[in-house]
Amino acid sequence: MCGIVGYIGDEQAAPILLNGLTKLEYRGYDSAGIAVFDGSEIRMEKVSGRLQRLKEATDNGKALPGMVGIGHTRWATHGCPSDTNAHPHFNKEHSIIVVHNGIIENFTKLKLHLENRGYQFVSETDTEVLAHLLDYYYKRTRNPLAALTKVMQKVEGSYALGILFRDHPDSIYSARKDSPLIVGQSERGNFIASDVPAILQYTREVFYMENEEIAVLTRDDIKFYNVDEEPVEKTATHIEWDVNAAEKGGYEHFLLKEIYEQPRAIRDTVNPRIKDGQIEIEELQMTDEEIKGIDKIMIVACGSAYHTGVMAKYVFEGMARVPVEVDLASEYRYRDPIFGRNTLVIVVSQSGETADSLAALRESQAHGQKVLGIVNVVGSSIAREADSVMYTWAGPEISVATTKAYSAQLAAFYLLALKFGRVRKTISDSDYEAYISDLQKLPEQMEEILKDRQPIQRFANRYLAAEHIFFIGRGIDYAISLEGSLKLKEISYIHSEAYAAGELKHGTISLIEDGTLVVAVATQEKLYPKTVSNIVEVKTRGAFVMALTNEDNKDIEKVSDFTFYIPKTNRYFAGSLAVLPLQLFAYYVSLGRGLDVDKPRNLAKSVTVE
Ligand code: AGP
Repeated sequence: MCGIVGYIGDEQAAPILLNGLTKLEYRGYDSAGIAVFDGSEIRMEKVSGRLQRLKEATDNGKALPGMVGIGHTRWATHGCPSDTNAHPHFNKEHSIIVVHNGIIENFTKLKLHLENRGYQFVSETDTEVLAHLLDYYYKRTRNPLAALTKVMQKVEGSYALGILFRDHPDSIYSARKDSPLIVGQSERGNFIASDVPAILQYTREVFYMENEEIAVLTRDDIKFYNVDEEPVEKTATHIEWDVNAAEKGGYEHFLLKEIYEQPRAIRDTVNPRIKDGQIEIEELQMTDEEIKGIDKIMIVACGSAYHTGVMAKYVFEGMARVPVEVDLASEYRYRDPIFGRNTLVIVVSQSGETADSLAALRESQAHGQKVLGIVNVVGSSIAREADSVMYTWAGPEISVATTKAYSAQLAAFYLLALKFGRVRKTISDSDYEAYISDLQKLPEQMEEILKDRQPIQRFANRYLAAEHIFFIGRGIDYAISLEGSLKLKEISYIHSEAYAAGELKHGTISLIEDGTLVVAVATQEKLYPKTVSNIVEVKTRGAFVMALTNEDNKDIEKVSDFTFYIPKTNRYFAGSLAVLPLQLFAYYVSLGRGLDVDKPRNLAKSVTVE
């Protein structure tokens, strides 16, 4: 979703803002703008479309000189993508300039209130209300901090804000509630940003802003306040990861690089948590007695993270015999869930900022439930608000379509399920050992699959013009089908559906006709004959079948048109291997169709609105 960057210091601001916004492109956007204080006036440029247009319009920033500025990439919510609706937004005199990420939910009421007082609006956005409301209170207080806190008390919804006041040319004001915002500190100046990659080139010292906190940045200083204007003490976090982690490193796309980083992501997530052959998850903060007492697990997430939950249900129930409910966060938050006497709620999120997942976490805590977060972004909102957090060490994931974070989330679930199974004595010692050994072998097996991606590329090239593609599987293979289908949809724009293979005949099979591509995932030995029967059903109706299985099942070639073999592992972990060819398939279809693989249309990396 929207990206914010702000800079105040010794350098020209505009190139830094443009560079930072480029690093935030992965978040998804449809227009962009920057505003720079040139000493006497605040000058601004904003355009719809790609950042490249903004770079051209500002001669790569040279046309907007000055050492204080704010920038924004907008992902449209209120009002279409256009030059006028692009941020920054401003008051009538252009003396207060605002960039905003989030949604002001009561903007209609506030707008009416301001219009009744003579304010005129030029855009369709909810954000413009902030510029005029700041103007309203600033004219009464002549104090930017007081005006900002007044506005924060009036607005409902979510916001991360960067604000320039022409009367205060040596400061950037910022505030956040439920939308991410960090503050960076360096020798050469200070920064605000939606995410670390935007400023990592300039600093590794970062402050994570809490809800309803304000930061006032000058060239040499950063002051934090709460909404009562009281100073707040904060400690900077040192960012450890390398700037190269957020670069393409020789790959054509971030997506391909991240697909290839999966073996490393699994190693980093798993290995530090296995000591002397035993799984130790210190972050879990649960005694063995507490683990034994859990009577229900509720997994809540969105998109691909939700798909890891669907998979985890099979794994947890199989290994640890605990009943698991899996919910889409956007449904869970309003469905008034029924908790058990000893429920563990697990919220899964790559970004740690997904609005629905965060709301689900808060809803659970409001009902007295303890929440474990499985999160990739260190210091993100879900990581900070969860009662305990288990990080997936996938590293920064830039491509909108998740791959390595998804795989690391699965690995985190395997660790948890094994730990629970061991403590609850639902798996034998020998199985426990065998599973740990299989888990540690997964990265190597992934590398084997990734060694030769050509067969998948060739196959994908035959399906560039497909209109519908179906993914089928049973059990864990169904969970993987969900993910394969989502990957394809989001980056290739081909309509696709994932179906539990046995369910097809209850309606959807009527869509299968001559040449329809059906991707059949068949890694589960017990279910293999059943899935083969379902393959035959679609073949009989003219489908072209791509099968995914392991070397033991060579007879699948009799009923499929193209087979991709994955190495053998136990039934629970097979999904982690089967997903790789599906990710590569989606990648090559998108590439072959000439699409923007890393930044698919209409999508955002971190969905910070409801
Ligand atoms: C997956 O490729 C998606 N881009 C999307 O479904 C994503 O998994 C979802 O929005 C959840 O995001 P999160 O993990 O950051 O919470």
